[in-house]
Amino acid sequence: MCGIMGYVGKEEAWPIVVGGLRRLEYRGYDSAGVVTVSRKRLRLARSVGHLRALEDSHPEGLPGTVGIGHTRWATHGGVTQANCHPHLDSAQRIAIVHNGIIDNVEALRKELVAQGVEFRSETDTEVLAELIGREVAAGRGLRDAVLRALRRIEGTAGIVAVDRNDPERLVAARIGSPVVIGLGDGACWVASDALALRPYTDRMVVLEDSEIAEISPDGVRTVDLDERDRDKRVEKILHRPEEAEKGDYEHFMLKEIWEQPLALDRSMRGRLDAGMGSSRLGGLETHEQRLFDIRRVVFCACGTSLYSAQVGAYLMNRYARMPATAEDAAELAVQNPIVDRHTLYVAISQSGETADTLGALREIRLRGGLVAGITNVVGSSLARETDFGTYVHAGPEISVCSTKAFTAQVLATELLSLRFARMRDLGANEGRAWVAALEKLPAQTQGMLEQWQLCKQMAERFQAAPYTMFIGRGINVPVASEGALKLKEIAYVSAEGLSGGGMKHGPLALIEPGLPVWALVPPDETRERMLGNLRELEARGAYIIAVAAADDTEVAELVDTVVPLPPHHPTVSPMLTVVPLQLYAYYVALAKGYDIDKPRNLAKSVTVM
Ligand code: G6P
Repeated sequence: MCGIMGYVGKEEAWPIVVGGLRRLEYRGYDSAGVVTVSRKRLRLARSVGHLRALEDSHPEGLPGTVGIGHTRWATHGGVTQANCHPHLDSAQRIAIVHNGIIDNVEALRKELVAQGVEFRSETDTEVLAELIGREVAAGRGLRDAVLRALRRIEGTAGIVAVDRNDPERLVAARIGSPVVIGLGDGACWVASDALALRPYTDRMVVLEDSEIAEISPDGVRTVDLDERDRDKRVEKILHRPEEAEKGDYEHFMLKEIWEQPLALDRSMRGRLDAGMGSSRLGGLETHEQRLFDIRRVVFCACGTSLYSAQVGAYLMNRYARMPATAEDAAELAVQNPIVDRHTLYVAISQSGETADTLGALREIRLRGGLVAGITNVVGSSLARETDFGTYVHAGPEISVCSTKAFTAQVLATELLSLRFARMRDLGANEGRAWVAALEKLPAQTQGMLEQWQLCKQMAERFQAAPYTMFIGRGINVPVASEGALKLKEIAYVSAEGLSGGGMKHGPLALIEPGLPVWALVPPDETRERMLGNLRELEARGAYIIAVAAADDTEVAELVDTVVPLPPHHPTVSPMLTVVPLQLYAYYVALAKGYDIDKPRNLAKSVTVM
């Protein structure tokens, strides 16, 4: 949601700023704009729609070696050119781009209107621009002006500002919303996401909350809101630039689906202890003593990450015999949660920036709870704000709908559950069997991918189906939900993921002859009951696609199509059964000609509550 890119250096800023915004497109946006400074004038270009529209409207670009740009996802005010960022103060001296929401905007706007300011947009950002502009007009430097303006706002703000009278410098600030600064030789870049920086540099400074940075071609100086100097560590951007490119794939989503074996392999490397039949998670070990006192685990997350959390809760209950639940972070944050010192909270988020998940973990930490994080993005807010954590190392995930991060997050919950299981009830031999199953997983996932043609055939056959049901039991209930979510997100098909048990308590009424139902029937303890569900569906004429063991003849007789599973340990099945569901959703969306990587109305990272 919303992207920020800025540049200050010796080169023309326009192509760098637009290029950076393009790398942030995946976050979702509805309009874009850029400001540069040339000959002490602010040059502004803004446009509704894709970045291409912005470039088409300014084929020559804008002149200047300093610039800031923004891709906006409308929150305050509709999708109009006037509401696009950057926003200028009424004196047209300073310009800002802003991610976040100013909660007390109405009071501030009223105050400024009473003083004669005429706002040109409906945005909260223009109000902030005006506040900064007034400070600058009163003779303050840009950093000082930003600082004073920020003291007046309540809410969240990741901002970058420029002053036409001092064009050798940008000022960036972080109040809740991420800002990273790339360091170069005689140039600096600033963005809301390290992905935008990587083509230019692999060295960055990550702003912490309530920090303000003055950025010039020579480097960065950071202070806190009380103007105390902050010593910043230079961090390495770990991914390679080409990891964020589509390569030969038509869509990022397909690339990311196919990257799963590699991502899983990378994610488990060095973390399995085959001898002890256990796992090693670096972050966890630093808190090991406290872990022996843990009597309950509460996962919290949103969207796809919530489904990976549900798998984690299942594993904890079933194999570690540890009471565990998975909570919707958006709910947990506002439910006045009961937090105790014998509970481990595990926040999961691909981006590490989902506002609801951060809200929940902040609430829990405020009450003294111990919070572990599982995230894909190094240096993200979640990584910084948890007590310890694990990176899933799936590599950049660009497509809005999450695929490889899901399997990598499930893997992280497996490693965590295995560790707890070995601290509690699970014997060494059983632990070793689990480890062996995990070791086989990358190759087995590859095997599931090889069935893409069958998934494509199914997708082409059912692309016009108005509704699709996904059912599973036990560890595969969340996978059924994830399959339905994929189809909703990118193919806009009404779909539901259900437990086999829940199906007959209502949703069965939706079944009509020929309606597609995906059934997850691995050869585990749920199989017998799933056979009952298959009979109920068969009797009503559903077209059943089962993900089941290759040699399960009983299932094969009951269903229309089988996507075969290799023999596997029951703990790892979600990372196998989900693959055909991802491929199916992809090919349905492809057949319908939709914008797969950027589905309508959605954003990759939802940074507002
Ligand atoms: C948004 C995305 C979902 C994603 C969810 C959680 O809703 O559209 O695809 O699963 O956020 O994102 P996170 O980065 O916290 O995993």
